[in-house]
Amino acid sequence: MFQKHKMNYQPIPLPYRAGKSNAEMKSGAEAFFTEIKQRHTVRDYSTQSVELSVIQTCIKAAGLAPSGANHQPWHFVAISDENIKRRIREEAEDEERKFYAGGGGDEWIKALEPIGTGPSKTHLEDAPWLIVIFAERYGEFDDGERYKNYYVSESVGIAAGFLIMALHSAGLVSLTHTPNPMKFLNKLLGRPPSNKPLMILTVGHPAENATVPAAAKIKKPLDEILTVYI
Ligand SMILES: Cc1cc2nc3c(=O)[nH]c(=O)nc-3n(C[C@H](O)[C@H](O)[C@H](O)COP(=O)(O)O)c2cc1C
Repeated sequence: MFQKHKMNYQPIPLPYRAGKSNAEMKSGAEAFFTEIKQRHTVRDYSTQSVELSVIQTCIKAAGLAPSGANHQPWHFVAISDENIKRRIREEAEDEERKFYAGGGGDEWIKALEPIGTGPSKTHLEDAPWLIVIFAERYGEFDDGERYKNYYVSESVGIAAGFLIMALHSAGLVSLTHTPNPMKFLNKLLGRPPSNKPLMILTVGHPAENATVPAAAKIKKPLDEILTVYI
């Protein structure tokens, strides 16, 4: 996507300045906190459909995330095709069965106990959308020459965060799902070797009887996650 002749430095005026008062900053931060507190990872989905345009707008938002050297080393594949969802479920459950049979190691499996996860992944077929997020280890200029990407995991992690928040703003729920290994997704979705699958986001509406694990509600208090020097 990059054209070599356009890769030069040219400053432009800052396009947007919030200019909020202290009170507006406080209420803005509080409002965001209250909203994001409502987000939960959901594992039980209704089959209610979601329009493609909603998914597209959320992915456009994810594409605005900061990235190393602005290389935007991500690719999203959005799937509502029943056949492909079924094949992803089959392959993912194959890996999950091996993981829960001991492949994941005792400590990891024990750590997952309070979350209540297991090898069955019905959500991969029930939910209207799966979004597979790929990290691109390298890209290509318009003339085909390869360039390296930097801080790939950091950049794609931030973009995934943007996407999860955009989906939440749209009134949808999601599940970050990471069957391990995920190489099968390259073959199934026709992505090149430069693309590393990072996660599958299951996206849709919660089922009527959806639950969340109580353990997921326990978040570290501020004094544990923040150190301040004044
Ligand atoms: C990188 C990553 C991988 C995850 N993988 C899985 C997964 O494979 N299966 C699953 O049920 N949840 C998975 N989760 C979801 C976590 O279990 C969930 O975020 C955590 O329990 C906290 O709950 P919350 O998102 O509702 O706050 C994953 C989350 C992240 C960030």
